[in-house]
Amino acid sequence: MSDFFVWSEKYRPSSFDDFLGQKSIVDSVKSLVAKGNLPHLLFAGPPGVGKSTLALIVAKSLFGSGWKSSFLELNASDERGIDVVRSKVKDFARTKAFNVPFKIIFLDECDALTPEAQQALRRTMENFTNSCRFVLSCNYPSRIIEPIQSRCVVYWFRPLGNDWVLALIDRIAASEGLDVDDNAKNALLAACEGDCRRVVNLLQAIGVGSKKVTQEAVSAMAGLARPKDLGEMVSLALKGDFVRARKLLLSILLDGNSGLDVVKLVQKEIWNLDIVIKEKLALVDKCAEFEFRLVEGSDEFIQLEALLAQFGLLRASQ
Ligand SMILES: Nc1ncnc2c1ncn2[C@@H]1O[C@H](COP(=O)(O)OP(=O)(O)OP(=O)(O)O)[C@@H](O)[C@H]1O
Ligand SMILES: [Mg+2]
Repeated sequence: MSDFFVWSEKYRPSSFDDFLGQKSIVDSVKSLVAKGNLPHLLFAGPPGVGKSTLALIVAKSLFGSGWKSSFLELNASDERGIDVVRSKVKDFARTKAFNVPFKIIFLDECDALTPEAQQALRRTMENFTNSCRFVLSCNYPSRIIEPIQSRCVVYWFRPLGNDWVLALIDRIAASEGLDVDDNAKNALLAACEGDCRRVVNLLQAIGVGSKKVTQEAVSAMAGLARPKDLGEMVSLALKGDFVRARKLLLSILLDGNSGLDVVKLVQKEIWNLDIVIKEKLALVDKCAEFEFRLVEGSDEFIQLEALLAQFGLLRASQ
């Protein structure tokens, strides 16, 4: 199997010039790299918008072809225990950087670390500031403790705008010989919501079977990610049939969907429901409240069950 079996890796930009969108971030990071003296960086933003990619580009631009020996990537949520992170950082930082003033440690998913672990990380950052720079990445910056935020230059990544996503589609279509018509492009834009990884994955999933990418193929493939019982679960909750709605919720979660995914899908589903706009607004507002609770780390099933209960209660009070 080729190294590039996965298109999201094959099409991962390896230079600032190939990187799409996030213009002000790229310009700022580029000028830091040009000065050669990098501060610690914190990349915050939703999935698939280039955080890890930009960290790799920084290392490649600073260190050239030997970048791998001066770059350590760790995933905070894999390595959960901060002790593992600390000992890996220590081992890495101990050996002198070859021909470069410092090494780079890229720590992904930092918001998965507990506040106590983040305090330990902060001390580790201080201990190794002479020999290492940290690039931290997270989806939810509000979960990063203030002392870490204040030690970093913080960049907020946004979902990519449509023009950039279209440029990405064209880039891949040209390279793979795919024919993507305008309707298919619109369907891709709607399905990915600015998440490049999702676009690339959808194009690969369809493109391996057929060079012609159609709106139908995109909808069918993107729809796979949407649990089939979701609409029914919401309708049952609205009707007050809580017991059956709850059963469907359990099976949707057991199918491997995350609580956050379910809230987002439920929120979208609200706009398709046959209810008055005032009810829709109230339900959307509830979704935001429960999304916040999940982001803060509450139990998924309990929170989603409570959200379903809110649907029933809201409807009953109208
Ligand atoms: N700005 C971009 N320009 C071009 N391709 C991109 C860009 N951002 C992401 N991609 C594509 O999406 C893939 C995933 O991007 P990346 O790993 O940088 O996401 P991320 O922001 O780190 O997401 P996560 O929060 O899930 O770690 C890349 O390999 C690349 O194929
Ligand atoms: Mg990443």
